[in-house]
Amino acid sequence: MPRLHPHHLLLFTLASLSLSAAATSAAYPTIPGTADPTDDCSEPERLVPVRQEVYGNGKIIDITHRITPELPAYETMGTVGQILWLPISIKKGNLTNNSEMKLPSHTGTHVDAPGHVFDHYFDAGFDVDTLDLEVLNGPALVIDVPRDKNITAEVMESLEIPKGVRRVLFRTLNTDRGLMYKNFFDTSYVGFMEDGAKWLVENTDIKLIGIDYLSVAAFDDLIPSHLVLLKSREIILVEGLKLDDVPAGLYNVHCLPLRLPGAEGSPIRCILMK
Ligand SMILES: *[C@@H]1O[C@H](CO)[C@@H](O)[C@H](O)[C@H]1NC(C)=O
Ligand SMILES: *[C@@H]1O[C@H](CO)[C@@H](O)[C@H](O)[C@H]1NC(C)=O
Ligand SMILES: *[C@@H]1O[C@H](CO)[C@@H](O)[C@H](O)[C@H]1NC(C)=O
Repeated sequence: MPRLHPHHLLLFTLASLSLSAAATSAAYPTIPGTADPTDDCSEPERLVPVRQEVYGNGKIIDITHRITPELPAYETMGTVGQILWLPISIKKGNLTNNSEMKLPSHTGTHVDAPGHVFDHYFDAGFDVDTLDLEVLNGPALVIDVPRDKNITAEVMESLEIPKGVRRVLFRTLNTDRGLMYKNFFDTSYVGFMEDGAKWLVENTDIKLIGIDYLSVAAFDDLIPSHLVLLKSREIILVEGLKLDDVPAGLYNVHCLPLRLPGAEGSPIRCILMK
């Protein structure tokens, strides 16, 4: 396996389909974003990939943004840029296509581990491989927050989130403004102010916080809010969720980060199930 870069970069090859799978593509199981098995595979011009947001007549909603070069990125203040290369390709004469991927680990829809803002947690190994999958998977509320404020203590209190609720995905003005679809990092996004973060820690049972832009913390309180939320190492932050067209309400959320020891962040695939 290629080795992991020490800090924010994630680099590994994506194994291509095995030769045997490629040879029996008509029988290959359905993979979203690949050829629709109902297409007639004998006609190459009809091999149109199917990409979906919702599966099983609405039973599964994908709340993950596609990782594309156009996504906004904190690291560049612009876009993510090229993330995929194809060093081994059929067109070059290799037997398979094997792409290589390189991207900041906090790209697009991603998770933060405690080592993101606490250096002693980073050194002690509180990376994404140590996050509790039970927190990342289970009943979750999708709620709308007032559109005219950042998430302050007053806003948190007004949401009246009942005790016992452990997972909340906060939809904000960020979704209305389509910030994840812009080609720059917009520092005017809505997020938690330090007092809102404190209120959540002190008055709720929330352990999974999801939000619809690249940081749960408002830019003005970027570090203070992260420190408050990650200090106990009990709360997991999922950022950059795609909450467009998702009715507010109760779902089961399923989020799985990559298993990357040493990484304080990771792209994550999140879905909601009814
Ligand atoms: C294989 O690589 C070629 C470039 O050599 C590319 O055009 C083609 O889309 C790739 N096929 C797959 C299945 O990724
Ligand atoms: C892929 O093809 C290139 C160009 O022909 C060659 O140099 C390289 O060794 C091949 N790699 C593999 C893994 O087959
Ligand atoms: C939220 O805070 C940011 C600065 O962190 C600010 O630019 C933005 O206008 C605020 N949004 C609202 C709705 O108050």
